[in-house]
Amino acid sequence: MLEASSAVSLLNALLGAGIRIRHDCGGKAICGTCAVRVLSGGSGLSPVGPRESERLAATLRPAGYRLACQSHATREVTIEVAEEGA
Ligand code: FES
Repeated sequence: MLEASSAVSLLNALLGAGIRIRHDCGGKAICGTCAVRVLSGGSGLSPVGPRESERLAATLRPAGYRLACQSHATREVTIEVAEEGA
């Protein structure tokens, strides 16, 4: 379990906790490599913004993915993080 402020993106919370996750564009919603799968509590995440929606529209968003660099948790959320390099 990882606790993080809603002011911090999931990406920065994960990195701050030492969890390795790809983030090739540095958090600019360009690369899509930081996509994480939401397993439960998705309503506790910040709304999907236009840049994130554009990046995930094709296949990942309908499958429950969010960009970690664009998402902020306001309540408990369970996510699955792909192993870096996977
Ligand atoms: S780090 Fe590139 S889209 Fe999130």
